[in-house]
Amino acid sequence: MTPMAANEIRMMEKAGQLAAQTLLHVGKYVRAGITTNELDLIASDYVLSHGATAAPLNYHGFPKSICTSINSCICHGVPDQTVLKDGDTVNIDVTVIKDGYHGDTSSMFFVGDVSGEARELCRVALEAMNKGIEVVGPTATTGDIGFAINKFVTKNGLWVVREIGGHGIGKVFHDDPWVPSYGKKGKGDKLKPWICLTVEPMVNQSAAPIKEFSIPNSSIKYYETSDNTLSAQYEHTVLVTDTGHQILTLP
Ligand code: MF3
Ligand code: CO
Ligand code: CO
Repeated sequence: MTPMAANEIRMMEKAGQLAAQTLLHVGKYVRAGITTNELDLIASDYVLSHGATAAPLNYHGFPKSICTSINSCICHGVPDQTVLKDGDTVNIDVTVIKDGYHGDTSSMFFVGDVSGEARELCRVALEAMNKGIEVVGPTATTGDIGFAINKFVTKNGLWVVREIGGHGIGKVFHDDPWVPSYGKKGKGDKLKPWICLTVEPMVNQSAAPIKEFSIPNSSIKYYETSDNTLSAQYEHTVLVTDTGHQILTLP
């Protein structure tokens, strides 16, 4: 958690913008009938043609360039031959490395006609991320962020995932601090100006435990709800400034 110099912040802005543009680009192709492998290729081509690389590819053995997490998949879904179908929700998580710096962002996408319940889950996950980002500032703590997220999610009758959270980011993909989606005001790590972190709450429809699955030849796990209920997530990369924050992955 070393504060960044002005030139590094400019690189983080560039990486963040490319991640945001990649997510917008690949999102245009989401429809019933496309496979997650095809989405992976579209994202990979876009990133490479913009002079960057996809951070997930070969990261601790992860085999693809993006994560695609469908319906009850919580995160780190691996693109494969799965065909998206009407009614699915899918989280696409894009992380790029541009000139040595990371930009990390994700969003939910709807395939055709999605149930009201699923839309509501996504609305809460999006607003939960924004509640977390709102409190990011030079004197805030990671507990303040988690508290804001969890308070909002609980108020809406839904559940945050406690096992996985946000992270510091820069030259390193997953750096300190750990940014949980729950916490106590004033607890956790104190932020400081000119560090970058992600806010990426995962929100579930039920309190059922989460299930962990191995990915062949990788130490990365993917996660699903144990009762097959839905999960949703949004993510931005955020710079802590001297007065508040700046979202680096807003297109
Ligand atoms: N982009 C994910 C995050 O937000 C991490 C994916 S790691 C991978 O932290 F290996 F699964 F790609
Ligand atoms: Co992240
Ligand atoms: Co991500």
